[in-house]
Formats: sequence, structure tokens, C-alpha cells
Amino acid sequence: MIITVGGIKGGSGKSTVATNLTVELSLGGFNVLLIDADDQETSTDFTNLRNEHTGDQAGYTAIRLSGKAVRTEAMRLVDNYDHIIIDTGGRDTTSQRAAITISDVLLVPFVPRSFDLWTLEPVEQIIEELSVVNDNLQAFAFLNRADSRGSDNQDSIELLSDSEVLQYIDTPMGSRKAFSHAAASGLSVSEYRPRDKKAIDEFQALYQHCLNLSKALS
Ligand SMILES: Nc1ncnc2c1ncn2[C@@H]1O[C@H](COP(=O)(O)OP(=O)(O)OP(=O)(O)O)[C@@H](O)[C@H]1O
Ligand SMILES: [Mg+2]
Repeated sequence: MIITVGGIKGGSGKSTVATNLTVELSLGGFNVLLIDADDQETSTDFTNLRNEHTGDQAGYTAIRLSGKAVRTEAMRLVDNYDHIIIDTGGRDTTSQRAAITISDVLLVPFVPRSFDLWTLEPVEQIIEELSVVNDNLQAFAFLNRADSRGSDNQDSIELLSDSEVLQYIDTPMGSRKAFSHAAASGLSVSEYRPRDKKAIDEFQALYQHCLNLSKALS
């Protein structure tokens, strides 16, 4: 399965989700390719850190691609891997569009804040345009950095649930230091110690959703 983590808002958690998914799938015994399609190279930095911490035993293969090559190279490599995870930058780029055209699944994290939610419509437009070339695409929206209290979560959920292009999935990830601390050590949130059970459970819900999609596709 090819999963792109996208959207056009910076800092929504795309690299956090992409790297956690990659590590979790590889720990689950899958042969995984992580494609960093963002010029900022966050997931490449993550993999470099992980290699340092594990003596080059990251557990997956990582490459950096940009522009149309995201599509052509991924298509060349797809049969060599069980899963390909593509991390994209927070802008509407050729790289992100190329990734979406070959993906089975697009995951779009949204922080429950108005600046982030204002990107829903342009994201929907991109998906609709690309659905013409990829009618297998399933696109999902979920909350990241969700609040522990207040009404912003619910307001955001209502807006995202109204989308006819993205399916809202009820797998919110809270704003938890474990996500950023784990990433800073090249670890997934499930590997990070001390364990943050809430963060682990939240990510697992998203991970299980992806596994179920994969089972449904095979
Ligand atoms: N659920 C969370 N709780 C706490 N911190 C988080 C969470 N998700 C992401 N972060 C932190 O927020 C910052 C941005 O996250 P990340 O790099 O994953 O976003 P991004 O969408 O990939 O950003 P960009 O658009 O720049 O590529 C990072 O410092 C990350 O550790
Ligand atoms: Mg990123």
C-alpha cells in the first residue's frame, strides 16, 4: 500500500505521522520504504538520527525524492516493498501532487485551529483534481495536536465531518510532548521511554486504521 501524508499547512504533524507509521510498520514485520518528498528533509533527518541510535538498523529503507521523480521512482520501487510511506511538505508542490497520484491512501492531519482548517477547501480541490488520474485514492482527515479541553476539537470535527472529499477518522492525536521527544531521538512514540500510554494508544488507533485499509485492499 502507498500512503502519502499530506496537506498544505506547515507543522500539522505530517512528518510525525509518516515516521511513526514507517517505524511501526517495520516493527510489525513489513518491508517499508519511507520517501521524503519534502525539501526540508525532516524525515531524512529522523532516519539519520535513528541510524545513529541503532547502529544503522533503522529497520526500513529511506530515500529522498522531489518533483515528478516521486511518482516515477515510487512506481519503479513499489513491488519491492510491502508499504511505501511518503512524507510531503506543507505546501501544494509538484512533489505532493506526484505522490497523491500514485497513493492508495492520503492522510491529512489537521490541528484544530482556524488557520489550519482554512486549508480544508484547497486540499479538497487538489484531491478532486488528482482523483481524475487516481480514482483509487482514499483520503482521510484527522486531528493532530488536539486540545485536552475546550470546544475547538468539536468545532473542527464538525467541519471535517462535513467534507465530501475527505473522510473524517476519529483517531485524534493529542498535543503530547512524547511525540516531539521521540522524534528528536529518532524513535517512534511506542519505542520512546518513559512510555506515554495516551500518545501510544492514540497513534495505535491511526496505525490500526491504516492496517485495516491495507487488509481491505489486498
Ligand atoms: N501530537 C503532537 N504533540 C506534540 N507535538 C507534536 C505533535 N505532532 C507534531 N508535533 C511537533 O510539532 C512540530 C511539527 O510537526 P511535524 O514536523 O511532524 O509537522 P509537519 O507537518 O511535518 O511540518 P512541515 O509542514 O514543516 O513539514 C514538531 O516539532 C513535532 O515534534
Ligand atoms: Mg514535515
